[in-house]
Amino acid sequence: MSLCSKSFRINVFEIFSIIVLVGSFSLRIGESKNVQVLKKDSKIDYSALNCRKHSALLTDFGGVGDGKTLNTKAFQSAIANLSQYASEGGAELIVPPGKWLTGSFNLTSHFTLFLHKGAVILASQNESDWPLIAPLPSYGIDQNLTDGRFSSLIFGMNLTDVVITGNNGTIDGQGAPWWDKFKNGLYKATRPFLIELMYTNELQISNITLTNSPFWHVHPVYCSNVVVQGVTILAPVEVPNTDGINPDSCTNVRIEDVYIVSGDDCIAVKSGWDQYGIKVGMPTQHLIIRRLTCISPDSATIALGSEMSGGLQDVRIEDITAINTESAVRIKTAPGRGGYIKDIFVRRMTLKTMKYVFWVSGAYKTHPDDGYDPNALAEIKNINYRDIVAENVTIPGSLTGYANDPFTGFCISNVTMTLSEEAAKELSWNCTDIKGVSKNVTPKPCNLLTEQATDCSFPEDKLPIETIQMKTCSAKEVFL
Ligand SMILES: *[C@@H]1O[C@H](CO)[C@@H](O)[C@H](O)[C@H]1NC(C)=O
Ligand SMILES: *[C@@H]1O[C@H](CO)[C@@H](O)[C@H](O)[C@H]1NC(C)=O
Ligand SMILES: *[C@@H]1O[C@H](CO)[C@@H](O)[C@H](O)[C@H]1NC(C)=O
Ligand SMILES: *[C@@H]1O[C@H](CO)[C@@H](O)[C@H](O)[C@H]1NC(C)=O
Ligand SMILES: *[C@@H]1O[C@H](CO)[C@@H](O)[C@H](O)[C@H]1NC(C)=O
Ligand SMILES: *[C@@H]1O[C@H](CO)[C@@H](O)[C@H](O)[C@H]1NC(C)=O
Ligand SMILES: *[C@@H]1O[C@H](CO)[C@@H](O)[C@H](O)[C@H]1NC(C)=O
Ligand SMILES: *[C@@H]1O[C@H](CO)[C@@H](O)[C@H](O)[C@H]1NC(C)=O
Ligand SMILES: *[C@@H]1O[C@H](CO)[C@@H](O)[C@H](O)[C@H]1NC(C)=O
Ligand SMILES: *[C@@H]1O[C@H](CO)[C@@H](O)[C@H](O)[C@H]1NC(C)=O
Repeated sequence: MSLCSKSFRINVFEIFSIIVLVGSFSLRIGESKNVQVLKKDSKIDYSALNCRKHSALLTDFGGVGDGKTLNTKAFQSAIANLSQYASEGGAELIVPPGKWLTGSFNLTSHFTLFLHKGAVILASQNESDWPLIAPLPSYGIDQNLTDGRFSSLIFGMNLTDVVITGNNGTIDGQGAPWWDKFKNGLYKATRPFLIELMYTNELQISNITLTNSPFWHVHPVYCSNVVVQGVTILAPVEVPNTDGINPDSCTNVRIEDVYIVSGDDCIAVKSGWDQYGIKVGMPTQHLIIRRLTCISPDSATIALGSEMSGGLQDVRIEDITAINTESAVRIKTAPGRGGYIKDIFVRRMTLKTMKYVFWVSGAYKTHPDDGYDPNALAEIKNINYRDIVAENVTIPGSLTGYANDPFTGFCISNVTMTLSEEAAKELSWNCTDIKGVSKNVTPKPCNLLTEQATDCSFPEDKLPIETIQMKTCSAKEVFL
């Protein structure tokens, strides 16, 4: 951090001197109106899983940052060109300050996309700039969406070592026309994500702002070794399905220092849908989410499910702040999902204005088609929550399992909830077909959570993804 701010100060100082020099020079020669492009070889430091030997600017490939010119070809040819360095130290593509309109493009391996401060990648609002691609094997084709799905704005498949970072540049999905058309029921294909990486090992998304995605913002699926850090995600709270980050059938994932305002779940942890997800059988596991701030009035801070047919296990969640959000760490599944949700650990949440603090339900009804097995029930067990302070709560707990398959192993300890004025009218805790224990919970939990003497557990070991060291890399600083 100090490295960054130090070099930034130097750069500011340097560019000041350049402006002064250029200014006095142009004054002397009288009519130098073309001195608008200032380029200087200064560097911006950033941290990444890997640094790159080769570097190029989007403008080297014909990019025009006027907010009107379509840059799809510039991105595609830049990345095609830079992919030749994958085995020679990798390459970095710098997006300079400006507004870069583009349709979808694909990333490559051993590659960094670096968004300069002031760089905005603007997603095209023309659907023909978003090709249709094959459905996800673990989701099948939603019976009502016969055309399949749109490719995400930034897409990658079967890659290794991909970094999307910057000093807080922006990727703006300009989703308004997509949200409207969806609300009017006019789609026959799933709306595109802003960023999707499939089957990728070593993925970093950091220090950028993502906004207004047509659908979910960040979707790593069938990935391993994923770090999402220092990301701001902003979408209007009333628009449909603009989830923040959805780790899906991924192993070893670390999400930290993120700020999300969204019309759907801030984070939703998934692993496939009904018979398709059961068949693929890839869980999301060894996931840590920490230092998340969430605002989502109609959805969850973190949802586990509802698509969880490949299983969710070893999920650790800590230091969470949610403001005016419907629920905290919500568990949702449905008959037909199969799979499991187990070994979930949550601690240190501060919740201000929340409808449901503990919300677990097995009746989330969507299905891809009629081919699901209604007897495929999820196994829910070993779910731990501790050290929670919640203010202005409407419903402390609503936990519902299945009569023929109770959800077991709940543990809730050291929780203080103060109730809203509306709360008095509601049943404080409503538990059905669940088993578990509790300690020091106010208001007093349902009888199915029997009192015990010890607090709930949280693992003491570290996940492999927590011990990964970032390297200090540098990108060329560009002044246009
Ligand atoms: C993101 O920025 C923060 C502060 O500006 C810095 O401390 C952190 O190292 C950066 N993270 C990455 C992955 O670049
Ligand atoms: C693409 O790569 C080649 C090297 O194979 C290089 O000579 C060429 O200049 C690059 N193209 C652009 C537009 O930079
Ligand atoms: C991106 O990659 C996918 C999968 O390989 C492919 O189907 C798609 O055509 C590619 N898109 C572009 C714009 O090249
Ligand atoms: C959308 O893109 C297609 C294909 O490039 C083009 O024919 C069409 O005119 C564009 N539509 C709009 C509204 O710009
Ligand atoms: C990517 O990897 C998956 C899983 O190994 C494989 O099924 C798929 O064919 C690969 N796709 C491409 C475009 O190589
Ligand atoms: C990044 O930009 C967003 C949007 O302008 C802003 O809300 C956020 O505070 C910025 N983050 C940092 C670390 O500067
Ligand atoms: C598909 O449409 C039918 C009829 O409108 C509806 O009942 C069903 O729930 C829809 N399926 C999904 C998966 O949205
Ligand atoms: C209970 O939770 C509060 C709030 O997170 C925390 O400050 C306190 O240390 C916890 N108490 C125990 C005994 O763990
Ligand atoms: C408490 O929550 C209610 C909604 O249940 C909201 O209308 C009210 O503004 C909240 N009060 C405070 C003090 O945040
Ligand atoms: C309690 O939960 C059960 C099962 O979900 C539901 O049928 C019942 O209506 C709930 N009771 C109240 C008072 O909300």
